[in-house]
Amino acid sequence: MPAQIIEGKKVARDVEAEVSAEIAALGFRPGLVAVRVGNDPASEVYVRSKAKKAEELGLRGSQRILPDTTTEAELLAEVDRLNRDPEVDGILVQLPLPKQIDPRRVIDAIDPMKDVDGFHPTNVGFLHMGRPVLAPCTPAGCIRLIDSTGVSIEGKRAVVVGRSDIVGKPMAALLLQRHATVTIAHSRTAQLESVVREADIVVAAVGKAFMITDRMIRPGAVVIDVGMNRVGPEASVLLAHDHEKTHLLQKNGSVLVGDVDFVRVREVASWITPVPGGVGPMTIAMLMKNTLEAAKRRRA
Ligand code: GUN
Repeated sequence: MPAQIIEGKKVARDVEAEVSAEIAALGFRPGLVAVRVGNDPASEVYVRSKAKKAEELGLRGSQRILPDTTTEAELLAEVDRLNRDPEVDGILVQLPLPKQIDPRRVIDAIDPMKDVDGFHPTNVGFLHMGRPVLAPCTPAGCIRLIDSTGVSIEGKRAVVVGRSDIVGKPMAALLLQRHATVTIAHSRTAQLESVVREADIVVAAVGKAFMITDRMIRPGAVVIDVGMNRVGPEASVLLAHDHEKTHLLQKNGSVLVGDVDFVRVREVASWITPVPGGVGPMTIAMLMKNTLEAAKRRRA
């Protein structure tokens, strides 16, 4: 029997309903400011969606758009203003930043109490000590997706493929906190196939289309696909077995795929997230939850 689909959109809607109900009862509107520097088209979409979703759920969501010529000092000054603004509960600086700005200095400058991305070293430290307060949104969303299947994490073998600060490392910390036995695999892992095949839970976050094949998956595993790769006609051979994606590719000239060879892996796994409609919708939902948490803590 093919794997059941983990409906990210539905789980995200549940999280959003929880957040908006809690905000309605709160008596004030938590404020989220999403900062974008420059005109990266993906960042434009993300930052706009984050501000819009905030407004939809009863938060005050706004965008601060700075030109791509912004200096590091100017961005740090803006972060400082937002840190001091009592109406701002959550600050998010969309990555990547233009090359003249060191993202580490910007992340370090955000007030940890307002760091709704969970990227500040203080929050990363708390996370790895098993005291996550503001955990990074995408991995937190993945945990919620795994929980939505009813499959228990405790005692399971989990393999995270990818070791980024945004997804791989915090994902491993969250799985460990939930008592999984965790391996982080990456581009230099030897015998990747046999390492991933040990896993009851696989989280793929490498940014490489078709990287995770059916041969790498233990029958019955839960597979979470964080990848978001836009592929063009060069991928048509690799996609030939996926009729839906092939159709989209022919229609649009490109198509969004994850890191997992979805159609083949689906035949082996017990649960799997689609791309799009899996992890993606969860990231924004968890950001709203983090903003609510930040507001409650800071104003307590
Ligand atoms: N760029 C890609 N993912 C993220 C994210 O979760 N937060 C921010 N701020 N930038 C990103």
